[in-house]
Amino acid sequence: MTRIVPWSQSLLAEVLATGDLAVDLTAGAGRDTLFLWQQVAPSGSVVAFDVQEAALERTRLLLQAEGVPVFLHSYEDPGSFAKPGVHLIHDSHAQWLQYDFDSPRVVIANLGYLPDGDRSLVTQKDSTLRALTVALRHLRDQGRLAVVGYPGHEGGQEEVEAVGFLLSGLDPERWQVLHLRAANCPQAPLLWVAEKKAA
Ligand SMILES: C[S@@+](CC[C@H](N)C(=O)[O-])C[C@H]1O[C@@H](n2cnc3c(N)ncnc32)[C@H](O)[C@@H]1O
Repeated sequence: MTRIVPWSQSLLAEVLATGDLAVDLTAGAGRDTLFLWQQVAPSGSVVAFDVQEAALERTRLLLQAEGVPVFLHSYEDPGSFAKPGVHLIHDSHAQWLQYDFDSPRVVIANLGYLPDGDRSLVTQKDSTLRALTVALRHLRDQGRLAVVGYPGHEGGQEEVEAVGFLLSGLDPERWQVLHLRAANCPQAPLLWVAEKKAA
């Protein structure tokens, strides 16, 4: 019941359909990216960022094993996002605006570090806030942003507090914001889902 990632995925699946665009701000091992693709395939797209080359390679291998069309992008070679499939960007999610893709139906940010990857490449409060601010602005009406945060590692508590401050301050006329946490376990992962109401 308190497994937060399945909650995040099922709350996003409710608003996703074939042909939609979804953004994964942290590709990691590719599980969220693949999940999003399964909701929007075959005519939709997923754009997934990661600063860690090894993470993107894991994501690429996972996707290709499932027969998903994969396109690679980077700061030096931003390329086109026109084709359906998964577009992997080797860059920080804070650089979102450098890349020319449409407004997404959903955005997911599964923060922290990749458990069996490079733990120094952990998400950082300032770049997370920059990416979430862009995500909130660009999300389609009735689209959802899900953020999974981890207070247990160094810097994690500060990051989740900043995310909570940003999302709990959203105008209730325009946003519904859900917050889920294990009430008796302060170090457990947390989830926020923000839905943009129709204008
Ligand atoms: C918890 S993992 C993501 C898990 C992933 N969504 C999955 O399903 O496997 C966090 C990832 O964020 C990445 N990351 C850290 N800082 C980042 C940044 N500024 N921009 C994009 N990715 C970042 C890390 O390299 C790591 O792979």
